[in-house]
Amino acid sequence: MNIIIKNNYEEVSQVAADFLLNTVKDKKNAVLGLPTGSTPIGMYEKVVEEHKKGNVSFKDIKTFNLDEYVNLDRDNINSYYYFMNSNLFSHIDIDKNNIHIPNGMADDVEKECMEYEEKLQSSGSMDILFLGIGINGHIGFNEPGESFQTTTHVTHLEHNTIEANARFFDKLEDVPTTALTMGMKTILSAKKIVLIATGENKANAVNEMVNGKVTPKMPASVLQLHNDVTIIIDNLAASKLN
Ligand code: F6R
Repeated sequence: MNIIIKNNYEEVSQVAADFLLNTVKDKKNAVLGLPTGSTPIGMYEKVVEEHKKGNVSFKDIKTFNLDEYVNLDRDNINSYYYFMNSNLFSHIDIDKNNIHIPNGMADDVEKECMEYEEKLQSSGSMDILFLGIGINGHIGFNEPGESFQTTTHVTHLEHNTIEANARFFDKLEDVPTTALTMGMKTILSAKKIVLIATGENKANAVNEMVNGKVTPKMPASVLQLHNDVTIIIDNLAASKLN
């Protein structure tokens, strides 16, 4: 694993944005895997700034998001569809037909997962996949204990994930308990993986991911099995690395 340690969130966001921008500048029809959450917001801001300067186009880019809650419609401000639109897609020149986010409102969510995986695999591998990490070590919504063999699937969120995500909702009971997520096998199929993390509350998970045993109990440890992973973290998230 290639580890880049920066001083703060701003610097982490800039380095991550540079990875994304360089991929798109090098390959006009690149396939990008994208996360939501608090961590990538700064990266998306910097990507949008660069697009507004006229330095990069997303016209032929395809995107696949990692995950989506079940039963939040696209207009709900907490849906990942809404998040992606307001933080990135509505500010760049991407063709809306090239945006893929699992549909958490599908009547048959199992079928939706299968179709999502098929669409992703038939687009060619993701050239680059960006990830965040949960305090419990989840990547996407692959919670501790889930198999490393999964493709896109329906998952049930751990209580501490629901608590961590409650900051965006009016009350804890409003946080969906079920989500659709790319599986570990899907994640490992990306050609290049970039994981970003900041803050002291991620320090344990970051250390376990890098130095711990490879085990489904610490989902992000699976990244030790991939041959092109870059981790971009701030000093605080790096504070437990030994
Ligand atoms: C979001 C996702 C999650 C988050 C993780 C960290 O699409 O897949 O794994 O990356 O929960 O979230 P933040 O960045 O809010 O700490």
